[in-house]
Amino acid sequence: MGLNLKFNSKAIAAHGRNPANAALTGLTTMLALWAAPAVAETHVTGDMAAGEISFAQQCVKCHVVVTDAGETLAGRNGRIGPNLFGIPGQTTGAVPGYRYTDFIIRAGQSGATWDEATFVAFVGNPTEWLRTTLNDPAARSRMNFEVRDPADAANIYAFLASLAAVAETEESAAAEEPAKVAVTGRPVSYDPDQAERGSTRYMNDCAECHGDDLKGGLNGGASLRSVSFLQKYAEGAPASDLFYYMSNAMPPSSPGRYSESNYADLMAFILRRNGFQAGAALPSDLDSLDHLIMEK
Ligand code: HEC
Ligand code: HEC
Repeated sequence: MGLNLKFNSKAIAAHGRNPANAALTGLTTMLALWAAPAVAETHVTGDMAAGEISFAQQCVKCHVVVTDAGETLAGRNGRIGPNLFGIPGQTTGAVPGYRYTDFIIRAGQSGATWDEATFVAFVGNPTEWLRTTLNDPAARSRMNFEVRDPADAANIYAFLASLAAVAETEESAAAEEPAKVAVTGRPVSYDPDQAERGSTRYMNDCAECHGDDLKGGLNGGASLRSVSFLQKYAEGAPASDLFYYMSNAMPPSSPGRYSESNYADLMAFILRRNGFQAGAALPSDLDSLDHLIMEK
């Protein structure tokens, strides 16, 4: 039987990077010393205090850091990306129960783990990192965000490493196989009635930021017709990527407030305005959407 210990090391973070120097008491001291080798293995060069601020500014929209016991250490209710507790040292794409794209799981299966270098490279350009790591030009990440400054990324890594010290002498990461996403299938289509219903809702609830013409620019709303929009969500991506983003992040005031079929209507409208073909109805469940390719 192995030891699989995870605990909240906020106390360590508060007292500096080296747990051995920290003025801790009682059980916490014991746990900290016990876990010290695992902490030391995780090479960290960044500034965790700066990382805490960067994390709050850039990552909490999509990520939380919650312990196995359910204690939230950072973030609030970002659920678009996986829980980042214990990520340092962990296999890529291995948070139990999170629904990843196939590529990041494959990277993990080929041996990729999160250390400072892989983390900085990934958050710098998630899709590019997966393409290089898997040597597969079709690879893509669903993480729709980039941290341009490597020093900033290293700071965030230091912050995440400070939140979780993990001592484990047994392999536990692969315990639960996350769902896989196939990127093969037929071209996406939608029913004209869906697009009509979506149009009405869009004009009421989305146009104030994304514009009547979908070109964005109002209240910071992104263009839903630009080349970069299509690069992110079309060009061979599964239809589930756009649906997933919309249904988890929009509208910003109350993400996820509509039913799944309402989100499918909205997506049908966006597809129509981008020149995609009408045909069979657009499904509203992610498993079916995984098998539809965003191509015209
Ligand atoms: C717009 C939403 C979004 C933002 C903002 C975002 N992420 Fe992500 N992140 C995701 C999604 C979605 C995934 C899952 C990627 C996949 O399945 O391809 C992910 C995955 C990750 C992973 C891989 C975790 C694993 O289990 O292997 C790391 C590490 C990560 N994000 C770090 C960050 C950091 C650090 C920030 C802030 C600088 C950040 N992310 C900002 C959406 C986001
Ligand atoms: C209050 C303004 C606002 C409203 C209302 C709003 N959005 Fe957004 N939307 C944004 C902003 C801002 C972004 C860019 C988010 C980011 O990059 O962090 C965005 C991003 C998006 C994206 C992804 C664009 C991209 O390039 O990644 C889609 C799709 C989207 N919104 C759809 C919708 C739909 C559908 C509705 C109506 C249900 C809606 N939005 C309502 C502000 C808004």
